[in-house]
Amino acid sequence: MKALVLAGGAGTRLRPITHTRAKQLVPVANKPILFYGIESMVAAGITEIGVIVGDTRDEVMAGLGDGSQFGAEITYIPQDAPLGLAHCVLIAREFLGDDDFVMYLGDNLLEQDLAAFVSAFEAARSADQPPEAQILLKKVPDPHRFGIATLDADGHVVQLVEKPADPPSDLALVGVYLFTARIHDAVAAIEPSGRGELEITDAIQWLLDQGERVRCELLEGWWIDTGKLTPLLEANRLILERMERRIDGSVDEASSVEGRVVIAEGAEIVNSTVRGPVAIGAGARIVDSFVGPFSAIGANCVVERSEVEHSVLMDDSSVVDIARLEDSLIGSDASVRRSARKPRALRLMIGDHCQIDVE
Ligand code: G1P
Repeated sequence: MKALVLAGGAGTRLRPITHTRAKQLVPVANKPILFYGIESMVAAGITEIGVIVGDTRDEVMAGLGDGSQFGAEITYIPQDAPLGLAHCVLIAREFLGDDDFVMYLGDNLLEQDLAAFVSAFEAARSADQPPEAQILLKKVPDPHRFGIATLDADGHVVQLVEKPADPPSDLALVGVYLFTARIHDAVAAIEPSGRGELEITDAIQWLLDQGERVRCELLEGWWIDTGKLTPLLEANRLILERMERRIDGSVDEASSVEGRVVIAEGAEIVNSTVRGPVAIGAGARIVDSFVGPFSAIGANCVVERSEVEHSVLMDDSSVVDIARLEDSLIGSDASVRRSARKPRALRLMIGDHCQIDVE
């Protein structure tokens, strides 16, 4: 079994962060989203991993390296334009050979381990009527945003449609798929969709049309497609919630650190309250401040005379003299500060596609 991880795409819904960073490398609980996927693949025993890269290839390649930091062997497959998920399978043909593989969308985060999903497919493959694909489904409140499956009374997949205006069900396709080599016939046979992409949803529908079996499982735990601010903060919350308390940095006597808090080595907490779940990265300094639940403060950040809650600060940023910062995503090397300069005014230098909510 091999893996194909998709780490291309433009990430338009997370601008301006994605003007300078691949959406799959935005951190959740101080770790890039993509790392969680690679780690769960390795935990499921899959170490031959192909990674599809697009415009942000340099950054993705710098982050993942040759895969040895994960115990994996990574092969990079460049995609010149975002032509769809099925197009990724098409260009990965040589890497995949005739092996079965798991396809994983690099901006998806799942609570559940992959191992059970993979072994269920392997077991079904050696039984009668072996499936050529396996999909994972989850009930969602907004089915028009996803690929949607219709099941018959016995729970078998009968139809798949990509982002329907009038959804036939609320069962969304999660971004983790298992395929045999039969999928290569499907991706070669389908035509681009209305949005000009070769849809993996259409490729799986093609398998169904040929009379092939597509196995499905309903996902129990949470699943987040992190491409926008609100789901990203939600993913941050869910991952922070399952961390174990660990204090490697320094906490002075005037400070209090409550609950599930991870403070990396070299971080300093001075005259402050940190109330978990919170992660504080290496070399960060929290001074005369309050860092509240569901915050991830990146490496070398400075929080001074401020209150921060339910927010993600990426590495090397600072928040100084801010009474209250909530529900925010701050890029790296950014600075948010109250100034004493006269006249009193809001002075901004912000990039394209930013969103500033003034209290
Ligand atoms: C893609 C798939 C869609 C699936 C979703 C899961 O959508 O096309 O079927 O439900 O991922 O994250 P996209 O991210 O291209 O909007």
